[in-house]
Amino acid sequence: MGMLDIIATKRDGGELTATEIEFLIRGYVANEIPDYQVAAFLMAVYIRGLSEAETVALTMAMAKSGDMLDLAEIPGVKVDKHSTGGVGDKTTLVVAPLVAAAGVPVAKISGRGLGHSGGTVDKLESIPGFQAELSATDFIANVRKIDLAISGQTGNLAPADKLIYAVRDATATVASIPLIASSIMSKKIAAGADAVILDVKCGRGAFMPDLPAARVLAQTMINIGRSVGKKTVTVISNMDQPLGAAVGNALEVKEAILTLQNQGPADLSQLVLALGAEMLVVAGRVDSAAEGRQLLEKLLTTRVAWAKFREFVVAQGGDPAAVDNPKLLPQAQFVLPVRSCSDGFIVGLAADKVGRAAAALGAGRQKKGDIVDPAVGIVLKSKLGDKIQTGRLLAEVHANDLLKAEGAVEELISAYEVGPGPAPPKPLIFQVLP
Ligand code: URA
Repeated sequence: MGMLDIIATKRDGGELTATEIEFLIRGYVANEIPDYQVAAFLMAVYIRGLSEAETVALTMAMAKSGDMLDLAEIPGVKVDKHSTGGVGDKTTLVVAPLVAAAGVPVAKISGRGLGHSGGTVDKLESIPGFQAELSATDFIANVRKIDLAISGQTGNLAPADKLIYAVRDATATVASIPLIASSIMSKKIAAGADAVILDVKCGRGAFMPDLPAARVLAQTMINIGRSVGKKTVTVISNMDQPLGAAVGNALEVKEAILTLQNQGPADLSQLVLALGAEMLVVAGRVDSAAEGRQLLEKLLTTRVAWAKFREFVVAQGGDPAAVDNPKLLPQAQFVLPVRSCSDGFIVGLAADKVGRAAAALGAGRQKKGDIVDPAVGIVLKSKLGDKIQTGRLLAEVHANDLLKAEGAVEELISAYEVGPGPAPPKPLIFQVLP
């Protein structure tokens, strides 16, 4: 067996064995297979696809390429939640403490933002003092103590995915369903939870631009989960426009706090309740999503979920004063208005452009290793379906650099599409699978 044969088999549309896939992954992590051969393999996969068996084999080989967290010492069904990546997606900040407040242990490994989509770790780190990089021991201890820990990828979880993702990014092979599914599921399997709820984003700001593609991605991840005995449920949700109003790290934390205090934007609250209810069902805490939703609504209105979030912030070293009074979170120096130059209805609000505008302000990274500015970002004041007039406030740009702020204003104006009448509304949640 050699790498040349493996590439040729995939190039010609053949099926690889699990042994061949393991050989490739092991060899690449050990630095025995060069990037250019992996790049050729990935392009062959991009064009030819992978069978179900190959996708599972790739996922498992990547999951086993580093440490595998063992959460067995935490009693109960441990649940994880993951989003395929969106703009303004702060659901984890709300749903994780909400579900933990219902007594279900939430053990969540999160990522940082890259490109136009944000990452939970960057958001949490905008809280002064917050420690998002926990050791495996502290991670487990916190879940045991307060039913909740969220950590960045410390240690060596699925290092093969990290290496392969970098090659995909540089070879235009990111947008391949089996590669996305195996990338996400390898990390979820290595992170050790018993069940996972996947928020599969669909629309302009997502990897999957339309519903049929999102369904295939969802089903592929469900099949992987099933093959390893991990309960996997997918919620396909709309990402044509950003979720909620805030895009940017501290701004999103503020919006998450409002949502935990039951005063958040309707779309964010609705998605949080849908995801949270599914988490309670897979954990066996409730018998149906409707029952779960009722319980979660009560935990929001009684502020039990908010108290859990505060407890979680303190447990990971964050300053509780900054979440009690979000004015103490990092604030940008300048706030520039973005105003409409026409009358009509908002028929398009390109999430990808909003995400790019926020990233260019410094809320995200242009490349790995860039330092994010926690204070900057965008607050949307008008969203899809709104009736607007010339001069109406569409958004606010929060910036620490006036030149960058002006660039963001331009990008935001181009993100809004105005029509003479309202476009037919699309649902926020398309489907829950299985
Ligand atoms: N998120 C991941 O972790 N991997 C992908 O390939 C895409 C989104």
